[in-house]
Amino acid sequence: MSDILGDWKRTHYCGDLRAEQIGDEVCLMGWVHRRRDHGGLIFIDLRDRTGIGQLALDPDRDPEAHAKAEAVRNEFVIAARGKVSPRPEGTVNPSMKTGEVEVEISELRILNPAKTPPFMLDEFTEVAENLRLKYRYLDLRRETVQQNLIMRHQVAQTVRNYLTDNGFLEIETPVLTKSTPEGARDYLVPSRVNPGNFYALPQSPQLFKQLLMVSGFDRYFQIVKCFRDEDLRADRQPEFTQIDCELSFVDRDDVMSIMEGMVARIFKDALDIELTLPMPSLAFSEVMERFGVDNPDLRFDMELVNITDIVKGCGFKVFADVAAKDGLVKAINAKGCATFSRKDLDDLTDFVGIYGAKGLAWVKIQEDGSWQSPIAKFFSADELDAIGKALAAEPGDLLMFVADTAAVTNEALGRLRGHLGHKLGLTDPKEYKFVWVTDFPLLEWDGEERRHVAVHHPFTAPLDEDVPLLESDPGKARAKAYDLVLNGSEIGGGSIRIHDQEVQSKMFNLLGVDDEEAREKFGFLLDALEFGAPPHGGIAFGLDRIMMILTGAESIRDVIAFPKTQKATDMMSEAPGSVDEKQLRELGIRLARKPGAETKS
Ligand code: AMO
Ligand code: AMP
Repeated sequence: MSDILGDWKRTHYCGDLRAEQIGDEVCLMGWVHRRRDHGGLIFIDLRDRTGIGQLALDPDRDPEAHAKAEAVRNEFVIAARGKVSPRPEGTVNPSMKTGEVEVEISELRILNPAKTPPFMLDEFTEVAENLRLKYRYLDLRRETVQQNLIMRHQVAQTVRNYLTDNGFLEIETPVLTKSTPEGARDYLVPSRVNPGNFYALPQSPQLFKQLLMVSGFDRYFQIVKCFRDEDLRADRQPEFTQIDCELSFVDRDDVMSIMEGMVARIFKDALDIELTLPMPSLAFSEVMERFGVDNPDLRFDMELVNITDIVKGCGFKVFADVAAKDGLVKAINAKGCATFSRKDLDDLTDFVGIYGAKGLAWVKIQEDGSWQSPIAKFFSADELDAIGKALAAEPGDLLMFVADTAAVTNEALGRLRGHLGHKLGLTDPKEYKFVWVTDFPLLEWDGEERRHVAVHHPFTAPLDEDVPLLESDPGKARAKAYDLVLNGSEIGGGSIRIHDQEVQSKMFNLLGVDDEEAREKFGFLLDALEFGAPPHGGIAFGLDRIMMILTGAESIRDVIAFPKTQKATDMMSEAPGSVDEKQLRELGIRLARKPGAETKS
């Protein structure tokens, strides 16, 4: 087999053929994209990762090559030699980079035949995603996925160059580690040599990068796989890639400005777009008030309006009761949507129901300015007027209201805003709206566990002015944390860390972790903080999410070479799979349940 290529050396990629090469002898190698028989002439579209070039085989020029070409089928791997020539008058294809030329083939070799693929390898045929994932190596031959992965490589290069230019060192951290609390479940790996003990795959390199700061590396980065066993969505994978960074002797503004410089370089290199810096930044409280969610899409308005004060004493009991009980009544104005049907409104009511809203009150503003609404009758003229003014209501508008606890009202209306933005075509994928969200709460109350949990993670420092609140009212303390949100997607998040051992211990206590447990889980970090930890902070970006936005991909799977399904399975290798009894015995593990196939998809 070794001499199948003989002395043939590839001279060009298929997609690189141009008019300047007319007259040159070339040797191409690639996959048969399509073969067309035109009477005696055979044309082959030959494909590689750079594109498609046309081969022309004339039976009179070389009968042997022509005979071989008759035998080739789609996806055969072939090599062909010949002369670049202009395409005959009238056959130039301006939609192809290589459309001015073809190669007049004099010799052809079939390097490897191929079975008929289970689906068409083009951009036009709809194929079930499960089938594409089962034959991912074929699916990856399609131009869009190839282009996505090529751009991903370029973005990684940009990141490495930018961070290296700014004094960051790329340092690897372990994958077999102890648990890092990032809020998801861990993937566990049993240890054979320490029976009964388990490693956790890192949810992020958080603790190690902080320890690298204690060691004095000063600026660290890593393009690194992270593992989280959580419910998957369109923008989440169980293993995903972070651009992970940590810096010493910095404050929030330093981290944010160095990092937005990196994002700007990525956009310049990948899309030739100049971003305006500095990026805008909004406090969490303002973001929640105006948009209801902490990852707002700023490409359109439709902001949430708080009307709790207006409806305090109104005749609509649902609103008045919520207002009296410290709840929140908010509304949005969907401009021009008074034409929505009863069914549309029922669908939107079901939509907000997903987020716990008990209903969705609505008002259609009619041409004469009057209200068409099941609830209008409960309001006085003054109240109607005040609500209309607060929402800048005009004829043709649709106002929608949710009354509930602050958390439910914000989330339900905030999600409704996002949903309508897409539905109404207000989200141009080629527009890029960034916002830093800062001053997150440090802690949130977990009703199930009946204790506070860290909003970002337990190593995040409180705002200096809020430190006294840790004693008096910890739930009110804000964090030195920041998220970068792009078009409604959280593409990165980080914080300034606690570098003082006492504050870190206090933080664990606030989280209901007693000293003993803190020692057991994070003793090495607490020790390290006592041996000269510099003030430090950092951030991690989700590379997959950034790639989704840069490529316009609908699914995170379209920017990952070998992704997992929504059920965290690999359709191709069929991971996760069962293991031999012997392997389990060596690990000291006995299964309580036989593995069932029913959870796979
Ligand atoms: P955080 O948990 O916010 O922070 O993660 C950082 C970024 O990683 C991306 N991301 C994901 N992408 C795809 N699939 C997932 N399952 C997934 N989970 C997170 C998001 C997110 O903004 N150690 C901290 C960072 C720090 O404090 O420096 C951390 O991991 O884009
Ligand atoms: P009802 O009086 O229950 O028939 O409700 C009248 C309208 O108010 C309906 O459109 C409901 O969807 C809406 N509604 C009911 N509860 C709420 C709520 N908590 N927030 C907003 N709208 C509500």
